[in-house]
Formats: sequence, C-alpha cells, structure tokens
Amino acid sequence: MSHTFTASELSMYNGSEGDKPVYIAVKGIVYDVSASRDFYGKGGPYEVFAGRECSRALAIMKVDLAACNDNLADCTAQQLKTLEDWITKFNSKYAVVGKLAVGGCEPRFDVPDVILRSSPFTPGLVATLVVVGLLTILGAYVLYLDMQSPPPLVADGEL
Ligand code: HEM
Repeated sequence: MSHTFTASELSMYNGSEGDKPVYIAVKGIVYDVSASRDFYGKGGPYEVFAGRECSRALAIMKVDLAACNDNLADCTAQQLKTLEDWITKFNSKYAVVGKLAVGGCEPRFDVPDVILRSSPFTPGLVATLVVVGLLTILGAYVLYLDMQSPPPLVADGEL
C-alpha cells in the first residue's frame, strides 16, 4: 500500500478504458477490482463505484453517485456493520493498491440524501393535486348530470 491517490487520480481508474485497471476506495483504502470488471466496468451494475470512494454507498446499500463519498457521520450501527462486512469481503478478494489522500474524497455530500433528492412533488403537494383533480372531475360530472336532466315541469297556470 505505497501509493497515495488523489481523488482525480483515482477517478482515472473508473473502468472506462478497457486496458486500465479498475479501482474503488473504501474507507480510504484503494482496491484493484479489475477482476470484477463485469460489476464495476463500463455498463456494469456497480460502475458508479469505479474510480470513487464508495464507503457511504456500501454502508447504506445504495448504488448512487450521491452516496459515493466517505461521509459516515449519520450512519447507524447496522450500516457501519454492513460496511465492515463489505471491507472483510474486499480484503479477502482484492489486492490493495494504495490509499486515498486524506480529504481527497470527492465529491463529498454532507447534505442528507433526502434533501439532495428533494423534488418539488412533495407528498403534501401530490395529495393536494389529487384532491383538486377529484373535486374537478366530480364537479364536471355533477354539471353533466344537471345538463342531462329534463327541465323542471311548469305547472299549468304558473306562467
Ligand atoms: C436487488 C438488489 C440486488 C441484487 C439482486 C444484487 C445482487 C448481486 C449479486 C448476485 C452479486 C454478485 C455476488 C458475488 O458473486 O459475489 C452482487 C455483487 C455486488 N453488489 Fe449487489 N445486488 C443488489 C443490490 C445491491 C446494492 C443496493 C448494493 C449497494 C451497495 C450492491 C452492491 C454490490 C457490490 C459492491 C457487489 C460486488 C461485490 C464484489 O466486488 O465482489 N448490490 N450483487
């Protein structure tokens, strides 16, 4: 474990070039995962991890670019245990080729995923839209029934 990678150096080993090894970093340790190019290489299910520090993603079990960082601050004990299990697996399966420079993990998202992912369609807004939509349909239906019903009978002599 001699070499210290910067984040941009690590990103060069993202599997996009067929003849270059593929690396991932977990808790600052860089592993050569080239043997599993099918997983981490271009088009693979875990390609987002390639060339990146992916501790958080492994801990929270999310294959997600936003989770590819070393922020474990809000992880539960169970998630940290999950990460340790991954590390045990990687240690037994892959060669360590170096470490990531301290603070070299990029991009680092300290913002909770839920905020990163926030969309204007909050549950409240969706519920309101559904209620307004249903009321509109109901109103249109009542209007339709009203137009279908015959005009009120006018009693003789009322005019
Ligand atoms: C429907 C959900 C999932 C299924 C069915 C699934 C299935 C698999 C399978 C069959 C393997 C190969 C295992 C092996 O041969 O050792 C694998 C590997 C892997 N999975 Fe998943 N997976 C799922 C979700 C996830 C998620 C959410 C993550 C996020 C961390 C993840 C991370 C990984 C990683 C990193 C590997 C490669 C491990 C290695 O390098 O040996 N998987 N997955």
